[in-house]
Amino acid sequence: MAASRVHARLFGVLGDPVDHSLSPAMQNAAFAAARLPHLYLRYRVAPPALEEALADARRLRMGGLNLTVPLKETALPLCDVLTAEARRIGAVNTLLFRGDRLVGDNTDGRGFLRALGDRVRLGGAHTVLIGAGGSARAVGAALVHAGCGRITVANRTPGRGEQLAARLATLGCPDTRAISLAGLAGGDPLADAALVVNTTPLGLGGARLALRHGASPPRCLFIDLVYGTQPTPFLAAAVRAGRATLDGGPMLLHQGALAFETWTGRRAPLAAMARALSDAGLVLTQPRAARSVRARRPPRP
Ligand SMILES: NC(=O)c1ccc[n+]([C@@H]2O[C@H](COP(=O)([O-])OP(=O)(O)OC[C@H]3O[C@@H](n4cnc5c(N)ncnc54)[C@H](OP(=O)(O)O)[C@@H]3O)[C@@H](O)[C@H]2O)c1
Repeated sequence: MAASRVHARLFGVLGDPVDHSLSPAMQNAAFAAARLPHLYLRYRVAPPALEEALADARRLRMGGLNLTVPLKETALPLCDVLTAEARRIGAVNTLLFRGDRLVGDNTDGRGFLRALGDRVRLGGAHTVLIGAGGSARAVGAALVHAGCGRITVANRTPGRGEQLAARLATLGCPDTRAISLAGLAGGDPLADAALVVNTTPLGLGGARLALRHGASPPRCLFIDLVYGTQPTPFLAAAVRAGRATLDGGPMLLHQGALAFETWTGRRAPLAAMARALSDAGLVLTQPRAARSVRARRPPRP
């Protein structure tokens, strides 16, 4: 079908808070680059209002939605169908309207793996996962899928860390354990880590984690899911210790690209999406991938 005959649809991200979200800039740039007449907006929705908001979205025949904090788990029982990925992770970040059915998917884990690229050989590797919330579940499930041999979960609330470690074992990780955040400070858990992923929002406020980055092997990669214009203290300390780092920008890009592809059935115009994030002030610390992405040529009218 010619692009000009595609009906304009409304898309959006729901969350609370949501004003900081860069998804509208990224998705509207993607629609423009793909010559689609759609519009993506942000909507502040608290958990008790989600059911009503989804009913409204259905009535308005919206094209699709993203969910951010704190709605990703609230949405689970509100979906008619969950993809295998959303079930594995236990959270929903992307919603599709398929006829009368609301389908819940999750692109965070796959977005994380795409952002990681081939930086780390994950097969049999040891990962230290800091945090045990929704994004830790997505990253953990992705790491298990990629063949990680051992995952150590370090979390503030020990019970949640233990629950996540048990869940990742159920998903197929041969060796999982849970430790306290204080257990990280000594450095022992990092001794053979190939990857250390901070999934807590601590870096948003510039707060620090007590961690001896230098206790990790020299080739260990440190990732913070928080993204912004400045490195978080967690990543800044890794750089000082001479370790490679990656912030949350590339994951934001790739989880958004996967959502775009799910909604539209088209390849995401990654270069245009990355440019929109850069224009919004984000430093995409992914030079190799940035060189390899190509904007998809829009279909001829
Ligand atoms: N780059 C991306 O594409 C992307 C995607 C998803 C999420 N994120 C970012 O990842 C972060 C976490 O999101 P989420 O959905 O996982 O949130 P969440 O479900 O609320 O989980 C937050 C986790 O951080 C821990 N935590 C919170 N405050 C802490 C503190 N002051 N000290 C120590 N631990 C603390 C919590 O520990 P307790 O269990 O003890 O409460 C919990 O394990 C957010 O900043 C979000 O923006 C980025």
